[in-house]
Order: sequence, then C-alpha cells, then structure tokens
Amino acid sequence: MFDNISHRYDFLNHFLSLGIDILWRKKAIRLLKPEKPQTILDIATGTGDFALEALSLKPKKIVGVDISAGMLAHGREKIKKLGHDDIIELQLGDSEKLPFPDNSFDAVIVSFGVRNFENLGKGLSDMNRVLKPGGTCVVLEFSKPKGFLFKHLYNFYFKYITPTIGEFFSKDRAAYSYLPESVQAFPDGKDFLAIYEQSGFRQTRAISLTFGISSIYLGKK
Ligand SMILES: C[S@@+](CC[C@H](N)C(=O)[O-])C[C@H]1O[C@@H](n2cnc3c(N)ncnc32)[C@H](O)[C@@H]1O
Repeated sequence: MFDNISHRYDFLNHFLSLGIDILWRKKAIRLLKPEKPQTILDIATGTGDFALEALSLKPKKIVGVDISAGMLAHGREKIKKLGHDDIIELQLGDSEKLPFPDNSFDAVIVSFGVRNFENLGKGLSDMNRVLKPGGTCVVLEFSKPKGFLFKHLYNFYFKYITPTIGEFFSKDRAAYSYLPESVQAFPDGKDFLAIYEQSGFRQTRAISLTFGISSIYLGKK
C-alpha cells in the first residue's frame, strides 16, 4: 500500500494535516534534546521526514528502516538532494525483526508507524531490544480526540474528506480509507502505555497534541 502512494505521500501528508504534522514531529524531536543522542534509529521511516527532523539533535548517525522499498526510494532521493546522506542512511527492514544487535542505539524514534505494525507488542519489544540501556524511545502516533464537538468534526473530516482528497491525488482510495480505520482500531492513550510497559519500557508517559488528534509516547529502557 505504501509503495503505491509513495510518489504522493509527502505532499498529501502536509496537505491533509494543513502542515500540522511538521509541528508535531518538531515537538517530538525537541523532547530528546537533553539526551544528546549520537546514534538514532528511525523506525518505519517512510520518506525520512522524522529522520530529517532528528538532524536538529546533531547526532553522528541516523538509520531509518522501512518495509516499503518505494517509500525508501523517495526518501533517499530527498535526503541526497538536501545533502544529508552522510548522516542519514535508509535501509529496508521489518520493525518486528530489526537487523541490528541488542543495545545499538542511543534513541529509537517512530512517527505514524506503530499503528501499521502487524504485531504491536512484538514491534515495540524489538525496538526496546536495540535501544541502549538508559536510552529513550519516542513514538508519535495518531490518537482519537475526546472533546464531543471536535471529535465529530474530526471524524467527518477523516472519514469523508481525507479518502476523497487522498484518492484524487494518489488514485488510491483504499490507502486513505485505511487511515481513519487504522486510527480507530489503534490502542491509544493509557491502552498504548500498557502495551509499551509490557514491551519493556519504563517511565512511560503520553503527551496529547492538538485536541488529542495525535500523541507522543515517551519511554525509557
Ligand atoms: C504513515 S507512514 C510514516 C512514515 C514516516 N515515519 C512519517 O512520519 O512520515 C508509515 C510507514 O510505516 C511503514 N511500515 C509499516 N509496517 C512496517 C514494519 N513492520 N516495519 C517497518 N516499516 C513499516 C510503511 O511502509 C510506511 O512507510
């Protein structure tokens, strides 16, 4: 599915979210500033936007992994054009079987990726495995807004407007219908924190963004 929409992914991401996704990524990365991570793993990196944002932490190396060769191809082209291919390296890989030894990275990050994992607990446990002890994991993911009025407006936008605009630009209606369905099915808030803890993370906390449309989940190893 992501191979199919990769040519339009960046444009539709920013267009459909009115650019707010950029601010969410910035905020999530800023939370890592005090840790000064030198090696960062960006899971489900897609076209590399979260990895590019992580450059502001001035790390020595950022590795991005994704199962979609199409998304990675667009990401590599973008990163090369921006001149950051010396620090950011993108690799094909499955988040549930990460091709890295235990305790490899100072920080592990993932934006809008965990919702797509086939087995959330398995993916989070493997992220924990490759994180160094004391390291921090930052997960940015859609969540379900709680306020009555906003929730209904948002559901209408996400259920009817998003698939229509998504189909117009990407010619793939299924991919943009999958988006609200996957958010609806995803265990957010306290439910996510419970699975995060079961996967080995400690000192976990959730930060709600923009009326609860998205959340940041922090966890330590
Ligand atoms: C919505 S995109 C997010 C991309 C990027 N992180 C961002 O913020 O724009 C979700 C990505 O997750 C990837 N993905 C889904 N399941 C995966 C898995 N098991 N392992 C690695 N990547 C996966 C998809 O290929 C896709 O590129």
